[in-house]
Amino acid sequence: MPLLAANWKMNPTNEDDALDLVRGVLGVARGHADRVEVVIIPPFPWLLGVSEVLDQSGVKLGAQDCFWEMSGPFTGEVSPAMLKDLCQWVIVGHSERRLYLGETDEMVAKKTAAALSSELGVIMCVGELADHYDAGTSDEVVSAQVKAGLARCSADDSARLVIAYEPVWAIGSGRNADPEHAYKTMRLIRRIVGEMIGAGAARKVRILYGGSVKASNVQQYVELPLCDGVLVGGASLDAEEFAAIVKVTAEVYGHR
Ligand code: 13P
Repeated sequence: MPLLAANWKMNPTNEDDALDLVRGVLGVARGHADRVEVVIIPPFPWLLGVSEVLDQSGVKLGAQDCFWEMSGPFTGEVSPAMLKDLCQWVIVGHSERRLYLGETDEMVAKKTAAALSSELGVIMCVGELADHYDAGTSDEVVSAQVKAGLARCSADDSARLVIAYEPVWAIGSGRNADPEHAYKTMRLIRRIVGEMIGAGAARKVRILYGGSVKASNVQQYVELPLCDGVLVGGASLDAEEFAAIVKVTAEVYGHR
């Protein structure tokens, strides 16, 4: 099933607004839950409240990060063991964490393996910077990120593994990637995943596009043959806009 994930990032700043937002998308998302797996990914403090709104709706919940150990002296960190009864998914290796918090490929690999071992689904983010894109080295950068990030994964993990291709220059910039570039990169990712865990298992791994996705441009991505959905940032903070993205996505995949 295609996956449509709403990464709220560090928004909204109070719980009432978070609950209003999730209530605003729930009606539409629930109505399409048989065709699109919708995942709402709020900041940690709103996970519990949002989970109560989503209860029994078929709409899933995710966290934006996790640590690679299950417990111990790691101040400020949240472990997969703590998340697994609360949510189904976790984002790992988002470019904002790589850029602002120094997250390395090795850390991403450890987090991915730890989350999978706790039965969480993992949305592992990869993507090149503008400099790489301009220099024509996107393929090398993305390949290296995928190889390193999957270093501790096996074929058994494939059904719960999602790779989100998010070119960093497309995130929050309004400059979404052209579908041809997205397609070529997703094809490359699929091939590398196949080399890492076997071609059969790789077919079960879902690959998403992310970066300035909105209702008016989502169709061109979800129509791509290798695209299994999208990861949405800014546009997921507007209930009407996100509901419109859900509708377009459900319609396109409903016709496949
Ligand atoms: P925008 O949709 O705001 O570009 O963010 C994309 C993103 O980073 C999702 O994880």
